[in-house]
Amino acid sequence: MTAAPPIQLLPEADGLGRAARYLGQGGLVAFPTETVYGLGADARNDRAVARIYEAKGRPSFNPLIVHLADQPAAEALCHFSPAARRLAAAFWPGALTLVLPLVAQAGISPLVTAGLDTLAVRVPDHEVARALLRSFGGPIAAPSANPSGRISPTTAQHVVDGLGGRIDAVVDGGACPVGVESTIVDCSGAAPVLLRAGGIPVEAIEACLGQTLLLPDEATPDRPTAPGQLASHYAPLGRVRLNAEAARPGEVMLGFGNVDCTLNLSPSGDLLEAAAQLFGHLHRLDAMKAKQIAVSPIPDHGLGRAINDRLRRAAAPRD
Ligand code: TXA
Ligand code: MG
Repeated sequence: MTAAPPIQLLPEADGLGRAARYLGQGGLVAFPTETVYGLGADARNDRAVARIYEAKGRPSFNPLIVHLADQPAAEALCHFSPAARRLAAAFWPGALTLVLPLVAQAGISPLVTAGLDTLAVRVPDHEVARALLRSFGGPIAAPSANPSGRISPTTAQHVVDGLGGRIDAVVDGGACPVGVESTIVDCSGAAPVLLRAGGIPVEAIEACLGQTLLLPDEATPDRPTAPGQLASHYAPLGRVRLNAEAARPGEVMLGFGNVDCTLNLSPSGDLLEAAAQLFGHLHRLDAMKAKQIAVSPIPDHGLGRAINDRLRRAAAPRD
């Protein structure tokens, strides 16, 4: 973890170039958007994305929004429905996030989607965010740049107060003009669903689509709804046994630390590495058609809490 206070960068060519270099090296860079400051990392880098969860102290893996420079960049990652295209044309760049089916092999870290097959994307309407995205030239995963459970930051000073010592740099672009997070619309199913009210009024979205948005509880129940309430349908196919010291006959072992196992989250017992590997390994267990999965105990501190939260969901009884 970065112990020193974040380097404060100015939103000029030099500062943005440095910010882009930090991102390219797996660093964490907070930056302004029109809604709130985001805590950015390279969305393709498992370890960098794991660091986001660590810095925020998030006790669970909520999927993150990927920020892009323009719509074509988003279309390379997601499948756009006609409704999604209409919303993007009307509101991008802007405070609207679309949840869409993820393109296979898009190269996005599974930690960004928390293992889901949908991706949240947005093209921010802020000169500094856009310049950083252009300079970096890739997808930036960014939740709001506050410690988990705290208020979203709308100035660089808020970011420093909340996350100082845990991130590499912050680009200071002044106060965020909108000040509330983006509106999130899930366009991955048959009818668009409002997942979060935010910077773009719901009425404007409904007028654009010529239809009413469903609320999560009106949508199909097997889809992820509100944050933190992700359905268990993306749990691995096999049955999961937690806190296992060793595999029993017929079990595939998902290890942590120096243990005999088929797949290891981190042979050295590094929670950051384990978080970065978690969803990839769960997908691998599915690909192996593992029917019974034993999982090593994971220390319940730092990122271990988020890993255990996810594993408990994976082990929970299913309908
Ligand atoms: O305005 C914003 O949206 C800010 C700025 C930085 O862009 N970002 C932001 O991110 O508010 P965050 O992580 O604080 O909130 C993202 C929300 C989470 O609550 C998450 O549950 C939801 O988006 N989300 C992300 N991907 C999703 C997906 N595939 N399906 C359903 N919900 C998703
Ligand atoms: Mg947030």
